[in-house]
Amino acid sequence: MAYNTSMNFVCSLCGKKAPVSTRAAMCECGGLWKLDFQPPPFDPDLIDRREWSLFRYRAFLPLGEPEEPEGATHRERVMSGEHASASIYPAWRAVSLGEGMTPIVRLDEDLLLKMDYFMPTLSFKDRGAAVLVAHCRAIGVDSVIQDSSGNAGNSIAAYSARAGIKCEILVPEGTSPAKIAMIRSHGAQVTIVPGSRDHCADVCRAKVAREGVYYASHVYNPFFYEGTKTYIYEAWEQLGRIPAHLFVPLGNGTLFLGMVKALEELLAAGIIARMPEVIAVQSERCAPIARAYEDGAPSPARVTPLPTLAEGIAIGVPARGEEILGYIYKYNMKVILAPEERIPEARAALAGRGIYCEHTSAATYAAYLALREKQGRIYDSLIPMCGAGLKSDH
Ligand SMILES: Cc1ncc(COP(=O)(O)O)c(C=O)c1O
Ligand SMILES: [Zn+2]
Repeated sequence: MAYNTSMNFVCSLCGKKAPVSTRAAMCECGGLWKLDFQPPPFDPDLIDRREWSLFRYRAFLPLGEPEEPEGATHRERVMSGEHASASIYPAWRAVSLGEGMTPIVRLDEDLLLKMDYFMPTLSFKDRGAAVLVAHCRAIGVDSVIQDSSGNAGNSIAAYSARAGIKCEILVPEGTSPAKIAMIRSHGAQVTIVPGSRDHCADVCRAKVAREGVYYASHVYNPFFYEGTKTYIYEAWEQLGRIPAHLFVPLGNGTLFLGMVKALEELLAAGIIARMPEVIAVQSERCAPIARAYEDGAPSPARVTPLPTLAEGIAIGVPARGEEILGYIYKYNMKVILAPEERIPEARAALAGRGIYCEHTSAATYAAYLALREKQGRIYDSLIPMCGAGLKSDH
């Protein structure tokens, strides 16, 4: 299959370039890759409204493959049997599980919820995994490894299964048994690593360095963030605008960074006139970005993560912390803390309205409620319901 090999990764430290077909998880100097990709200006006319997955936005995604020839629709080609030809069957079609297009539900006069747990593996991570695994398939990767608190591992395992790619997922001890069972059900090997989430990442990265397996990391691999951009494209398409206040959970920042990139694209294209207020939420038990922000520091603070119900954001050492803080300062964003003891009541309040979400999503709502108590109504707000409740019942 023809693949756009002119697309490059660029090292965020030394500026060295490598083609995106590289198997290297990062630059030799230790710097993380950024993707050298400039999508066309966001234009509603470029949305493929016949495609009912997030790949309807593929004009703005770095899929690097030639568009299908004009004329016959995909359906017509499937009907004619032509779809078996690799040249007109891009990787994303082989990988998509119908992710994205999640509804936005109004909770009350001020608050909208984007139901990102209505996804193939029940979390927003499918946005990033669909795009990353499509890339893996396009460049011929046959085996991947990744570390995760559970949800990203679920996503990479499912999409790898779909793509016919062998997969190993490392999770920290204490990860929800439901998530582990789900990862295994997709045929992935699960390795449970004693110790913290950060230690689990260290163990995985050491294995990547030793064995050279492709690191399908939601944190390191820039393709993942291209997928999470679609959260904003969808919100814009569904509402015809971007809400004034965007709340977002912040652990490693995969949703945060994708959101901000997409908002910058909408700004540059004149689709929105100003940056909305982005309000990032960390756990009060693990807040390296919030602490750094208080001090005006450019790098995440050193913290000792304490146990929290918000397992999805319990990241003590966010690898892209400087990039995240850079955006927070640039756009004068807020970083607030989720009060631990209020997570269960926030979750119960949502469940009492029919919405059964993970504790980590309830933490974002708990932080929203605490801010509202402090400063009054927060008009026109959007909160992502990132994970399904059954996944954190343990
Ligand atoms: C349910 C849920 N919400 C939020 C997050 C936070 O995402 P990130 O670590 O990319 O900031 C995660 C990450 O695993 C998650 O599983
Ligand atoms: Zn470098």
